[in-house]
Amino acid sequence: MIVPTLNEAGNIDPLLTRLSALDLPEGSFEVIFVDDGSCDGTPEKVREWENCGNIRLIERREKPDLTRSILAGAGAARGDVIVVMDADLSHPPEQLPALIAPILDGSHDVAVGSRYVPGGSTEGWPLHRQWLSRLGSWLARPLCDINDATSGFFAFRRELSGTVAERAGGYKILLELLMAGQGKLRVVEVPICFRDRIHGASKLSFSHQWTYLRRLMTLAGGTVSVGRAGRFAAAGLFGVFVDALLFQWLLSSGAGLALAHILSFFVAASVSYSLNFKWSFHLNHEGYLRWPQFGRFLTVGLFALLMRGGVLALLVHGWHMPPLLAIFPAIGATAAVIYMGLVFYVFPVKQNP
Ligand code: GDD
Repeated sequence: MIVPTLNEAGNIDPLLTRLSALDLPEGSFEVIFVDDGSCDGTPEKVREWENCGNIRLIERREKPDLTRSILAGAGAARGDVIVVMDADLSHPPEQLPALIAPILDGSHDVAVGSRYVPGGSTEGWPLHRQWLSRLGSWLARPLCDINDATSGFFAFRRELSGTVAERAGGYKILLELLMAGQGKLRVVEVPICFRDRIHGASKLSFSHQWTYLRRLMTLAGGTVSVGRAGRFAAAGLFGVFVDALLFQWLLSSGAGLALAHILSFFVAASVSYSLNFKWSFHLNHEGYLRWPQFGRFLTVGLFALLMRGGVLALLVHGWHMPPLLAIFPAIGATAAVIYMGLVFYVFPVKQNP
């Protein structure tokens, strides 16, 4: 069993007391604590238990990282089945036998302690944590088709840890493991009752959540970066400028409203597509214009245009916002839709997870 720790001194005694009470056959399991530089005396607490059976401590000196810690533990493990569990007792040790049973009997490769299947539950978590956790699992669902992809309590065959991507990091090693299996793993969800910790505090930060989101996007086949988003914004602004200028010119030259609107949209879309193709997404090697891609670009653009109209109508007619003000949130929403469309649909970057 691998237990990653970062300032969990108050949880070591109760955790090991409850694990000892499980009455697992002598020598059938070891507990490897992987500590990432705790400064509250966690390593010393673990050392007090080192003589009481198969309890080991690994002290990492690298930058703290949950996934890397778990992989370090898996590398040092001697058993064939690995269980990962939080140190804070939010995962009931008593549910360990039920979790490992499907791996031990050979029927499955990965068993996930799941809060979101019938029989599973979450107790004591503030509402915003419940929502965040649900949202995280829901976003991952299309990728790995399980209900609780953000669970930190799971068991798997040890050799699978070698399949996890080099660049994997952050909180969600389970997702990495499932993605590395490319849909071929036999996965089962075992209901668990998750209880919020009593001692210490969660280490989940905004930066962990952002890393998770970015990782989800990468695993889904797209990449998001600040530099790319900036270039996209510049290309978009230039497109808006061309659109407005041409629209004015066509109107003043006597073209009808619909013609001016459609023509300026197509010219601006072509300019913006070329800029995004060459500059924002660096696809120089593939030639200048690719029709199927341009078609997808127009589809995204048209969808965004419709959405912009909807947002505008809602803000202006529903919320009585002045149109000159309403255009800004409308443009923002449109830009977000176009950017996601480009990343995942028009220019998805295929890469190894
Ligand atoms: N070694 C190491 N390095 N351990 C860490 C690090 C790190 O950088 N960050 C956190 N941990 C340890 C904690 O000490 C604890 O044992 C466990 O990882 C979970 O961390 P928490 O910060 O307590 O997580 P949580 O309670 O908010 O729960 C969330 O993350 C869990 C971890 O996977 C939830 O999303 C849970 O669903 C999930 O199980």
